[in-house]
Amino acid sequence: MDSVAAGEPGTKQGLAAMRVDYQTTGLSAGDLAATWHEQLEAWLQEAVAGGVVEPNAMVLATAGTDGRPSSRTVLCKGLDARGVAFYTNYTSAKSHDIRSTRYASATFPWYAQHRQVTVRGTVEAVDPAETQAYWSSRPRGAQLGAWASAQSVVVRDRRVLDDALATVTQRFADQDEVPLPGHWGGWRIVPDEVEFWQGRSDRLHDRLRYEIDGMDRTWTIRRLAP
Ligand SMILES: Cc1cc2nc3c(=O)[nH]c(=O)nc-3n(C[C@H](O)[C@H](O)[C@H](O)COP(=O)(O)O)c2cc1C
Repeated sequence: MDSVAAGEPGTKQGLAAMRVDYQTTGLSAGDLAATWHEQLEAWLQEAVAGGVVEPNAMVLATAGTDGRPSSRTVLCKGLDARGVAFYTNYTSAKSHDIRSTRYASATFPWYAQHRQVTVRGTVEAVDPAETQAYWSSRPRGAQLGAWASAQSVVVRDRRVLDDALATVTQRFADQDEVPLPGHWGGWRIVPDEVEFWQGRSDRLHDRLRYEIDGMDRTWTIRRLAP
């Protein structure tokens, strides 16, 4: 059983005393799938089966050329041997960072299962056909919202957004399909490292990392100290 000890909520002492002891089954290299993406798929399925809220949410970290990191949540919308894909505005702050450095890291935080997975690597654009297929699967409201929002720019007030939505709603009113905006699309993190973290008791957690080795770029699994 997990135990939670917390003091007065909202106080520094309260935060210091908050901890969960993880009595979860351990993870060894022999338990892992042959490839990182099969293992991530398996854990994602377990997160879904376990009722995790937004199981495909991942915290995406990027940095600008000044080295200053930023993080935010995005939804993983593609997972296969090529990498982990998400969709966003190509003029957003995150996209600016990605274009500047070509690197990103994303963490799936499955706290209820005492797990996290972190994917790190280079980033490539999802090809237009795949982006179009995903765009077409989105609800019309989300499509219009993507047209209406110049993501990451400062806006005077909420009304600016509501007015922009009204304008694009009118603009596409007689079109069955809202077209894919040029400023919107997918990015895929092409990992060279994927770490699977499983909480264990006494903070001796299991950390197993698939990493690309050497000139022949073969994947190796290594254990890291927690
Ligand atoms: C659960 C959740 C899912 C989100 N999914 C996405 C997403 O898939 N794509 C996206 O652009 N923003 C998503 N967002 C909003 C981002 O966290 C962020 O606010 C936005 O992309 C602007 O980030 P930026 O200014 O750093 O580029 C999501 C936020 C939450 C809380």
